[in-house]
Amino acid sequence: MTENYDLFEHDVLVIGAGGAGLRAVISASQAGLNVGLVCKSLLGKAHTVMAEGGVAGALGNLDKKDCWEVHFKDTMKGGQFINNWRIVEIFAKEAPERVLELEQWGAVFDRTPDGLILQRPFGGHTYRRLSHVGDRTGLEIIRTLQDKAVSCGIKTYMEVTFTRLLKDGDRVVGAIGYYRPSGKFIAIKAKAVVLATGGWGRMFKVTSNSWESTGDGVMMAYEAGAELLDMEMVQFHPTGMVWPPGVRGLLVTEGVRGDGGILRNSKGERFMFKPEYMPEMYRGQYAETEEEAHRWLEDKDNNRRPPELLPRDVVARSIYKEVLAGRGSEHGGVYLDITHRGADFIRRKLPSMYDQFYALGGVDITKQPMEVYPTIHYTMGGIRTEPESCATTVPGLYAAGEVAAGLHGANRLGGNSLSDILVFGRRAGDGAAEFAKAASHGSLDERQIEEEMSLMLAPFTCEGKENPYRLTQELQEAMQEGAMIARNEEGLSKCLQTILSLQERAKNLHVDGAREYNPGWHTARDIRYMLKTSEVIVRCALERKESRGAQWRTDYPDRDPEWGKKNLIAGKEGDQVKVSTRPMSEMPPELAKLFEEGK
Ligand code: FUM
Repeated sequence: MTENYDLFEHDVLVIGAGGAGLRAVISASQAGLNVGLVCKSLLGKAHTVMAEGGVAGALGNLDKKDCWEVHFKDTMKGGQFINNWRIVEIFAKEAPERVLELEQWGAVFDRTPDGLILQRPFGGHTYRRLSHVGDRTGLEIIRTLQDKAVSCGIKTYMEVTFTRLLKDGDRVVGAIGYYRPSGKFIAIKAKAVVLATGGWGRMFKVTSNSWESTGDGVMMAYEAGAELLDMEMVQFHPTGMVWPPGVRGLLVTEGVRGDGGILRNSKGERFMFKPEYMPEMYRGQYAETEEEAHRWLEDKDNNRRPPELLPRDVVARSIYKEVLAGRGSEHGGVYLDITHRGADFIRRKLPSMYDQFYALGGVDITKQPMEVYPTIHYTMGGIRTEPESCATTVPGLYAAGEVAAGLHGANRLGGNSLSDILVFGRRAGDGAAEFAKAASHGSLDERQIEEEMSLMLAPFTCEGKENPYRLTQELQEAMQEGAMIARNEEGLSKCLQTILSLQERAKNLHVDGAREYNPGWHTARDIRYMLKTSEVIVRCALERKESRGAQWRTDYPDRDPEWGKKNLIAGKEGDQVKVSTRPMSEMPPELAKLFEEGK
């Protein structure tokens, strides 16, 4: 039976309405094109809001020595040098301009006494670099971009999930999906498509990610033939809530540590001072005693930051080790204490944290420490793109933000995600606009559309008995256990076997009811991509036989210089995931020179 679908047409289609998608639609429509924006949820509700503590850009408002070169170095070091140096260079140079542009568009940043944008310290950043709005920076950025995008006259499709990119030969010419409320199908024809669908933290049981983060974008690109890069790199943010169980994993902003928050174990030790937790690369750059760290709080000209502000991979691993050694808190985390900053300061600078702990956990953070433990927060791996234009390896397809890879390498520094979406959201919009201006519409292939609609509807008629919620739960448990902070061959292989057997079982998914408002059906659809994304992550994690950034292999505990010269590439070959390595291009001498001593 042939199904009906709505059909629309735009020059540029942007899928995903977080910061990257919104910034892309602004530049594509400023280029004079007709732009469509698709959001899985309602406009304004995006995972971008979960970047709370600030947007990184070397404005140098407080620390005059800050400049793009230092931001470049910090980002490369944080990513342990498997970042794409050209992407990082563009990023560090353009981030300040993009932050100031937001200010012109009405973002209300916190201020210094003389009226400049206030910047706070964050992990791995040499200087105070994060422009912020209390602990609601992502929210303010979304509000600002949304106002601007709407004023550009774009067409928005809300509560629509896209499930497949449509191709005409090699080229992407549109996409198909469904309206979540009605279950009806919708296709959009476009000369160029930008994917800005964010990350895929929902594969794990404990995550800061919202329900949307199921890997739709990265898998649509994979299915369309795009190359994926370093997919094993998944970030554990050091501090998620641990109690009560219903909110386990909810983000506790790094802004707490940026504003002086202290981590302690159950013995009251400020464990981040332990020499074994200090990576060689950062030795000598951080305070070595509590007294010195306290002085930093008073005297910001002293650059030896407290070790709580080491990059996220380091702090997350240290917390993990403390808990494993039996020095955890009552509910299996560690303590994060900011009470010494006083109630006025805390309520002013961290209002969301105050409300979150008080409302959800009955904890008054002005008087008591928080309990925290690492939570899956971000995916550094993703679609490989060209640095200048954000073009993927598939003609007509562009990607920006968390769904794309290359900027953050093996570990992202906090605050770099918000400047990432601004810098590369804009570039993706420009790149797609340029492509669209030079192209005419391709033709939609009805067979591809029919195929996708049948696949979508299959669980209604399938006689199998598999339940989509059960499969999702089993996948999340397997990933949490086997592909967690500490990985090894045995755990990863077991996890892969579970994923493969879940993929078989997913062929027998059955859902009841109608297409309207049917979350069971949506889950059956999501699981398809969640399983494939997980398979790619685990295959890449098995392949990378070393420890670097977020990939900590207990069976290969050291960083291997050979692995520092190449990236892992994953692509679709028939029905199989093909994983290979690709040498990285060499950093030009003028950038390499920045890493010489004293520069
Ligand atoms: O901790 C945070 O506020 C998160 C920021 C980020 O992910 O960049």
